[in-house]
Amino acid sequence: MFTMLKKTDMLLLFCLVGTANALYKQWIPDTNFENKTNWDKGAAPCGNDVAQFLAQRKVSVFVETTHTLQEMRLPVDGEFILNSGSGFYVSAGQEPGCGHGVTTQFKDSESLQWLDPALWQTAETLHDLQQGNFLFSVHEETVPCQYDDVVFKALSSFRVDISSSQSSIPVKSVSVLGKIFDSGSEFMQYLSSPSGRLQFHGSSAVTVGNPGCGDPSGCDCGNSINHERICNTVKCSSLSCKKPLLPVGHCCEVCGAIVTIYFADGFNLQSYRQRIHHIFLVQTKYKSIQLGMSKVFKPQQLMGIIPFSTSPEIQVVILDGETGAISEALAQDLVKDIRSNGLNLQITGAEFQSSSGSSSNKSGGNTGMVVGVVFGVLIMIALIIIVGVLVRKGVVKMPSMPLMPSIPSLGSFKKNTEIGDVGGPLDHGFDNPMFDQPSLMPEIPGLYGTETKNSISLTQTGVHFINPVYDENETDFNA
Ligand SMILES: *[C@@H]1O[C@H](CO)[C@@H](O)[C@H](O)[C@H]1NC(C)=O
Repeated sequence: MFTMLKKTDMLLLFCLVGTANALYKQWIPDTNFENKTNWDKGAAPCGNDVAQFLAQRKVSVFVETTHTLQEMRLPVDGEFILNSGSGFYVSAGQEPGCGHGVTTQFKDSESLQWLDPALWQTAETLHDLQQGNFLFSVHEETVPCQYDDVVFKALSSFRVDISSSQSSIPVKSVSVLGKIFDSGSEFMQYLSSPSGRLQFHGSSAVTVGNPGCGDPSGCDCGNSINHERICNTVKCSSLSCKKPLLPVGHCCEVCGAIVTIYFADGFNLQSYRQRIHHIFLVQTKYKSIQLGMSKVFKPQQLMGIIPFSTSPEIQVVILDGETGAISEALAQDLVKDIRSNGLNLQITGAEFQSSSGSSSNKSGGNTGMVVGVVFGVLIMIALIIIVGVLVRKGVVKMPSMPLMPSIPSLGSFKKNTEIGDVGGPLDHGFDNPMFDQPSLMPEIPGLYGTETKNSISLTQTGVHFINPVYDENETDFNA
């Protein structure tokens, strides 16, 4: 009874979760007067201290409360944002327990980069941001993605260098001092205001008003164009595992596990993330786990060398801060869960690699998603068509020999599509070009249906494809 209730609760929770997949990215540093990390003596000045701001530095400083100071040296260009009731008083002598009569300098925040993943934290909701329920993600996605909501803490000031390799950094919205900007023109106006110019500097412009991610299965973050700049700021730690892994979008190799998930239409990334959280991450044995989940586009290669196209898949990066043994256990649990519940979750297959060296074969049952098969089938169909034409034209006399026996060989082809060597490109096969141009080859049978529907029959009169019903499992890869 109790467990049933729990399950219903969880179902309810899953239903309440919207389909939006945007995340909130919050800028961590501030230039607040009260934040002791902003002062070179490690404490905010007070009493008979002298507060000094570097003359040539532009700075916007939020002041939350009142302060007494002996003296304040101001910069040429700067501003104080005074909270209501805050202000400065000149001290008339020693204040007990406050100040040492020293000159304290406000630290330089000039070099803090928008593209530095260490300076952002991610959460699913604003509430989670406030509660400190942060999500882990790969470096590229720790920096705001194009469909994210960017948050600068309400009662704080900041200065951020928004230089990037592009002329603009698109995001869905930006919230500054509690005001949410989601219209492009309004935010542009703000950027050219005195406050805006003190808070944002650098060669690019942040543009808001980008649509959110409308695809429940997730969207491409879009930060790979800035991969180099993002990784410039990241220092990788030394690793102690046998076979370090390099997740897509991450700057460093890691010890842990990567689960790759193949999905069908109807897959919901946010619901799945919450399912994993509620079923697995709450377990005490997994409390050291960091898990990041996102849609990535893996390059597909023809025969393992020729770049072919990219295919979307869900990458689950699992780290445990150690050698990866706990990560591997969780990866195994996830694949097991998909094996039994994949159909309901619209997951068609999953596999994992771990830094201990083990990996799994694809599981999940639906052979349809093995994109590697597609190319083989295309070639085969071309052959069949040619033979069919020849037969029809009477060039070749065709007895009742069916071509079907050649199909089982696809099975062995498929098995070769398991995950490749770490470090090397991962080769799962190929993206199916027909999904880009559905009208070109509308009659490829059964690729995405069940095995038994796969039928191509060859008769004396020609080739007939029995076209399985194209249901919603016909994933739209353009998502
Ligand atoms: C003070 O600034 C540091 C670094 O910029 C930041 O991590 C910390 O959260 C800030 N403290 C408060 C109370 O906001």
